[in-house]
Amino acid sequence: MGYDAHFRVWRGDDHSGELQDFTVEVNEGEVVLDIIHRLQATQAPDLAVRWNCKAGKCGSCSAEVNGRPRLMCMTRMSTFTTDEVVTVTPMRTFPVIRDLVTDVSFNYQKAREIPSFTPPADLKPGEYRMQQRDVERSQEFRKCIECFLCQDVCHVVRDHEDNKNAFAGPRFLMRVAELEMHPLDAADRRDMAQDEFGLGYCNITKCCTEVCPENIKITDNALIPMKERVADRKYDPVVWLGNKLFRR
Ligand code: SF4
Ligand code: F3S
Ligand code: FES
Repeated sequence: MGYDAHFRVWRGDDHSGELQDFTVEVNEGEVVLDIIHRLQATQAPDLAVRWNCKAGKCGSCSAEVNGRPRLMCMTRMSTFTTDEVVTVTPMRTFPVIRDLVTDVSFNYQKAREIPSFTPPADLKPGEYRMQQRDVERSQEFRKCIECFLCQDVCHVVRDHEDNKNAFAGPRFLMRVAELEMHPLDAADRRDMAQDEFGLGYCNITKCCTEVCPENIKITDNALIPMKERVADRKYDPVVWLGNKLFRR
């Protein structure tokens, strides 16, 4: 059964903006992105929104719905009561370009800073067999659709803009962890995780894991194992002594 919903949508640019109220038709089976599209078609033709697949796979339609980071195309209207006000705002952690569209280039910058996969130079094709659990670990991390909702929700940058230089965020610390735990990656990623990508800023709040639409266990399977690897090295007395003797 259709009904009229009360939507509040943020309109503006990086200088100023405000929430605008709309009364808009909702039909059975629709998602928040359908309603945003209806607003574009009927009441707000210049409303800016980024989207592409409408199937939870391209990671484009990230926004905040009633304050929670969500994919608009995967947020069913049936999760709200018919008298509930549905507020849609752009991701808070990134600068607004216009309306619901944010500038997520911070994430691409961090991606570029991570040294790529580094297999041993003398390893020839067919010379190595991967263990199934190593395959599965990479496969889990590679489900990422780069929606950046985890990056948006993490308080380290959400509440502290000035941490953006020092902290790569959960999505990219997960990438560093994936490479560090890859049996064929010869680079040592532990110092870079800590010193360049800010692993120490993460205090395991797990908000990133909670919002991930791909249900990747970012904290348990990537960030905590990475922290353990960094700590092992720091507190290993042999490593410590070696560093003292040979690194000066
Ligand atoms: Fe989105 Fe999950 Fe990838 Fe983060 S890890 S960018 S929440 S799919
Ligand atoms: Fe942030 Fe996730 Fe750590 S939300 S604090 S990166 S567990
Ligand atoms: Fe592709 Fe929503 S439109 S994930």
